[in-house]
Amino acid sequence: MQRTVRKILRAVADYDPDYYDMYADANEAFFATLYVERIRQHAAAAGILPPATLLEAGCQAGRLVIPFARLGFQVTGVDTSGYALRRVQEHAKAAGVGATFVRGDVMEVLRRDPQRRFDIVVCAEVLYLSPRYRDMLHALAGAVRPGGLLCVSHRPKFYYLLEAFRQCDLATAEAVLRRNEGPFRDSAYYNWQTEEELRALYGSLGLRWCASYPIDRFAWLSGLDPSKLTDGQREALRDLELRMPGDGAECSRYVLVVAQRPLD
Ligand SMILES: C[S@@+](CC[C@H](N)C(=O)[O-])C[C@H]1O[C@@H](n2cnc3c(N)ncnc32)[C@H](O)[C@@H]1O
Repeated sequence: MQRTVRKILRAVADYDPDYYDMYADANEAFFATLYVERIRQHAAAAGILPPATLLEAGCQAGRLVIPFARLGFQVTGVDTSGYALRRVQEHAKAAGVGATFVRGDVMEVLRRDPQRRFDIVVCAEVLYLSPRYRDMLHALAGAVRPGGLLCVSHRPKFYYLLEAFRQCDLATAEAVLRRNEGPFRDSAYYNWQTEEELRALYGSLGLRWCASYPIDRFAWLSGLDPSKLTDGQREALRDLELRMPGDGAECSRYVLVVAQRPLD
């Protein structure tokens, strides 16, 4: 469907058959539980408990922000997409949770309210899409209160390499090996960082590195579809994903970094 037609349908008829609603997708909802559990555990260990405040940058349809609201956090979701915000509002209403949603570029939203600080700032599966990821990370770090957490997912090099090899696209694999940022197949943008680079990046923002975790290793690598598993099998997969702390983070679909702003 053409972009303009989609835009009009979304705005006027609140309809887009091509929209990928990550909240409604059973697999994405499964992977969301990995993010939520890792972040919840870190928050609890840092003494950050509901009703602490949580900002999600790029909340889309609410796959993360709604589970956090269910846990009792006071959540704010920001997204540039008006259509995504309408979806998340519907999902939040159906889930019976309270939440605040703001439309806009998260950097601009934070710039408008420079004193605002959150106990937890989450940004999952957003930065890998943006050539301005360093600026965005800088803005997000600035919104974390002293003692608070910044939890951000990044894509590892291995992900891009494997996806290129799966398509027999050796030229792209070669380009990914040479450069950690650039166009990735069909002109989509990519960026990846080594753990050393990520540690340096978070350190430069005045944050203390807590941990990095793989998000989706086994399903992605094996081609396993969590939505086709029985409840028991899905629970076993979740346990396996969560059991090994940082093991194999670089061989996963995403790497979740948890960092903390030191107390003043
Ligand atoms: C792949 S989705 C990730 C959704 C969600 N974080 C999750 O994990 O379920 C990326 C979302 O980020 C939003 N986004 C991208 N850049 C943004 C920005 N600068 N400010 C706010 N939202 C942004 C997009 O509109 C999209 O809804």
